[in-house]
Amino acid sequence: MAFRTVKGMHDILPLEGVGEMPPIASWQRLEDAFRTSAELHGYSEVRTPLLEQHSLFVRSIGETTDVVEKEMYVVRRGDDQLALRPEGTASAARAYVQHKVTAKQPVTRWYYLGPMYRAERPQRGRYRQFYQAGCEIYGDPGPACDAELIDMLVGLFRGLGFEDLEVCVNSLGSGDTRARYRQRLLEFLRPHASELSDDSQRRLERNPFRVLDSKAKVDQEIVKDAPQILDVLDEADQSHWDGLRRLLDSLEVPYTVDSRLVRGLDYYTRTLFEVKSNAGNLGAQNTLCGGGRYDNMIKSLGGGNVPAIGFAMGLERILLALDAPPPELEPNVFFAPLGEAALPCAMKLARQLRAVGIAAQVDGRGNSMKSMLRRANAEQARLVVILGEKEMDSGVAQLKDFAKHSEEQVSQDALLPLVRERL
Ligand code: HAM
Repeated sequence: MAFRTVKGMHDILPLEGVGEMPPIASWQRLEDAFRTSAELHGYSEVRTPLLEQHSLFVRSIGETTDVVEKEMYVVRRGDDQLALRPEGTASAARAYVQHKVTAKQPVTRWYYLGPMYRAERPQRGRYRQFYQAGCEIYGDPGPACDAELIDMLVGLFRGLGFEDLEVCVNSLGSGDTRARYRQRLLEFLRPHASELSDDSQRRLERNPFRVLDSKAKVDQEIVKDAPQILDVLDEADQSHWDGLRRLLDSLEVPYTVDSRLVRGLDYYTRTLFEVKSNAGNLGAQNTLCGGGRYDNMIKSLGGGNVPAIGFAMGLERILLALDAPPPELEPNVFFAPLGEAALPCAMKLARQLRAVGIAAQVDGRGNSMKSMLRRANAEQARLVVILGEKEMDSGVAQLKDFAKHSEEQVSQDALLPLVRERL
């Protein structure tokens, strides 16, 4: 039996796209744009393990969420119950608490980039291993940093070429507001309990907020008339929400208020947002990025009373929506040496090129010129340096430019400046 990738997981190859996955250069371009934007806004990269204690995710993401209830890859090893991270926020918060970062910095800005794992039903834009790029801010209660995060996202997406962004924002309130709203929502939903979907019936008493973002048609019909959280914000929540909106207006960031937005993770408080695009036939998977404030998580993980906010974007979805041709490969030089003396000469010349930052490869297989040129073509070399016996006798090389279909003779000593000129 030939081995294949696991369901919902994909290979990304260097030169060609495979199914929905574009070649690596497209990923790298997106990752570079994200890194540049994050670093310009004062974020530093953090890397955490792919495996964490299972209970970390239960505690932070919430027991009644789809992610925890149905989608985690759980790994048992001896007495440890571990899980592949389904997202990056809990791991970053764990690291923030573990390393007592709060004692060293009043405000911390971290970003991360890497694979996450959720055993969802795979479809276009939804995978079991998918890549997220995310930012988290600890120690800033907002709302200025909330607005700045959203502004940064809009700038990044526009810079990538998106023209049809939809930015949805909402506030979930905090503490008292949520308790008050929960009560109102329960009072509204209880009389409809028997009409709700099985999932929502099960979750109703434990987590009525989840009914609001249920995908089931029956639930959506009922929820249409539910009370809205924005109507019950307390004074502090209202002032945070007004502050955020005022700033977004001043910054001319376009957004719509979606009072039904709750998102599928339980840790959120106050500001909540999503960025969507209708490009790329993503259907229901058109949320490119989601995030929000989670002011209670650090405390619940044993840290201090540290407010936090962040977002994560799904790289596959962004690439599908952009559908941009892969960027051109970095120009590279391919050496085709023929004969014993030519090989070390090619290796030395290649070393000279690499020393000044020009990518160079030497075909050392000892094959025919025809087969070396075929390989150079397959590797999309820009320039080929041919070193045959004739060339070696007179200290020259043939420089072949694949793109321009040209060939010229050059002295081996003058190769470096000429290659520089031609690239
Ligand atoms: P999330 O909404 O679960 O939030 O995921 C964020 C983004 O990751 C989604 O908008 C989507 O683009 C992408 N994504 C999620 N699941 C999949 C999947 N199965 N396949 C492909 N892409 C997917 C979070 O993960 C939070 N940690 C965001 C956050 C950070 N909140 C505060 N800080």
